[in-house]
Parts: sequence; C-alpha cells; structure tokens
Amino acid sequence: MDQIKPSPFIESDTLAFRDFDESYLNQFKEWMNDKDYRKFSRQEVPIMMSSQQSWYSSIQGSNQSVNFSVWYKPENKLIAFGGIFGINWIDRNAEIGYGIGDKSYWGKGLGYEMVSLIVKYAFEELNLHRLYATMIDGNIASRRCLEKAGFTLEGTRKDDTFLDGKYVDKFYFALLAPEYFHN
Ligand SMILES: CC(C)(COP(=O)(O)OP(=O)(O)OC[C@H]1O[C@@H](n2cnc3c(N)ncnc32)[C@H](O)[C@@H]1OP(=O)(O)O)[C@@H](O)C(=O)NCCC(=O)NCCS
Repeated sequence: MDQIKPSPFIESDTLAFRDFDESYLNQFKEWMNDKDYRKFSRQEVPIMMSSQQSWYSSIQGSNQSVNFSVWYKPENKLIAFGGIFGINWIDRNAEIGYGIGDKSYWGKGLGYEMVSLIVKYAFEELNLHRLYATMIDGNIASRRCLEKAGFTLEGTRKDDTFLDGKYVDKFYFALLAPEYFHN
C-alpha cells in the first residue's frame, strides 16, 4: 500500500489526509479484523470484503460522510483511516471516527493530531456546528484524544456494551463550533 500519492487534501505537521477509494477496502478490512484494533471498535465478527464493498457502494454519491486515508508524511506511509459520518446538513452536526490501523504508530501523538485535523476541517471548511463521538470505557487513548481536542463528556450509558466478559459504560462526547473558535 506504500505508494507515492499526489498532494494531500488536508494536512497537519506529520499527517496527510487523502481520498478514500475502493483500493483501500482490503487494508481497511485487515485492520478492522485485528484483535487489538477491533476491541474498542466493536467488530465482534470478522468483517468480509463483501460487506466492505456494500458499505463502499452505499457511500457513493452520498454527502453524509467524508472518508479519508491518513498518511504519515515523514515516511509517505498509509497508517490510518478516519472521517466524518452521519452529517446532518440542516442541524449541522456529525460524528467523527478515527483509527490508526498500523499499531506501530500508536502512542506517538498521532491519534490526537488526527482528531484535531478532523475537527479543524469539520468546523473551518464544512461549517458544521456540533461534532460528537462515542467511546467505550477502557479506551483511554481515544478518550484522551477527544479531551485534548476540546470535547467534553455529555452523557454515559451505563452497562451499554459487553466487552471481554463484562458490561462496560459507553461515553458520549461532543464539541460545539463556538467552543472550538473561542479556544
Ligand atoms: C485511539 C487511537 C486513535 C489513539 O491514537 P494514539 O496515536 O495511540 O494516541 P496518542 O498517542 O495521540 O495519545 C493520546 C493520549 O492518550 C494517551 N494514551 C495513548 N495510549 C495510551 C494507553 N495505552 N494508555 C493510557 N493512555 C494512553 C497519551 O498519553 C495521550 O495523552 P497525553 O497527551 O495526556 O499524554 C488508537 O489507539 C487507535 O487507533 N485505536 C484503535 C481504534 C480505536 O479505538 N479508535 C477509536 C474508537 S472510539
């Protein structure tokens, strides 16, 4: 999957966000099926190419999501996928999603950088008003990425999710455009 790509759509210091096309589906599937990655992404059964292709077909021509491939600039290497989903253009809200598939890049500040760039794009280019994200208790890195980017906890669904043999809470985080622009 390492290949020279043209200039990024958006970029931060070390990350380049590029388009997401069909050629990425297999890599996405492989990462989604990884035991560490899928734990908090709630992928309980193996994902197959057929469902990937169905999902990809469903987003064609839709303006309700923006999907990116995320590249680590110093090595021009694909490491992650992420984007904005369920965009409501009337209420101007949407959910953000992010995941670093190449685990050797975890814990280097890239998750936070990724969330920050998605937020910047959503508020400064798409003119969205409210972003939200959910995460399961125990996903400390994801929670910290959101908190560092300014998201606050809005609510908790107790015992929402069955994870590793026990029920755990699910957290709902959000960030409003006025909060973003005032900080
Ligand atoms: C969630 C994810 C994107 C975080 O990316 P990351 O690059 O590892 O995170 P960062 O290095 O930017 O770290 C962000 C914060 O979390 C902390 N953190 C990272 N890994 C941690 C761990 N294992 N335990 C505790 N804290 C951790 C960091 O210290 C940092 O906080 P700090 O700046 O206050 O020190 C990555 O772990 C991932 O892709 N996981 C699998 C998919 C997933 O869970 N996606 C989110 C679904 S809600």
